[in-house]
Amino acid sequence: MLLTCELDHVHLQQEVDPLMDLHSFLKSELRVTAVKGSCGSGYCGRCGVLIDDVFSLACMVPLFSVQQRRILTIVGFSSTPDYVDLEKGFHAEKVFPCGHCAPSRILLGHSLLVYAEHHQMDPRGIREHVAQFPCTCITPEEYTRGLVKALRFRQRRYGHY
Ligand code: FES
Ligand code: FES
Repeated sequence: MLLTCELDHVHLQQEVDPLMDLHSFLKSELRVTAVKGSCGSGYCGRCGVLIDDVFSLACMVPLFSVQQRRILTIVGFSSTPDYVDLEKGFHAEKVFPCGHCAPSRILLGHSLLVYAEHHQMDPRGIREHVAQFPCTCITPEEYTRGLVKALRFRQRRYGHY
């Protein structure tokens, strides 16, 4: 199939196998090194990307489902003001994910903040979501603290309080 989508703010059009997963496509065909993970089965949680602002595990996403969608890896996301909120929030709470995990942690964090803003999700709700992914460096509590702080920065930026 001819895949047409946006990847990291750039229009992409390429002939692809529609059943290939997005993770394999990004890593083997496009050589995107910023997408981590190797389990290929939705377990490690490290191959996260944003598809239309929603966090998705790229290894679980077939290419036919990203037709006409907007995909952001950490490379594209890091040039946005939304990224800066997360960076400041993690910094303020001294939460420093390691290189294996950081891209996914930041993109998942952004997706949760978007959701939290629209659905008034409290810190407990955020914690329940973040606890789903295995991580050996930071606890769900630490990560949640970083996200709650990032949410404050974002709300302030939007002038919500
Ligand atoms: S590669 Fe491990 S969850 Fe996708
Ligand atoms: S931050 Fe290192 S494994 Fe998650």
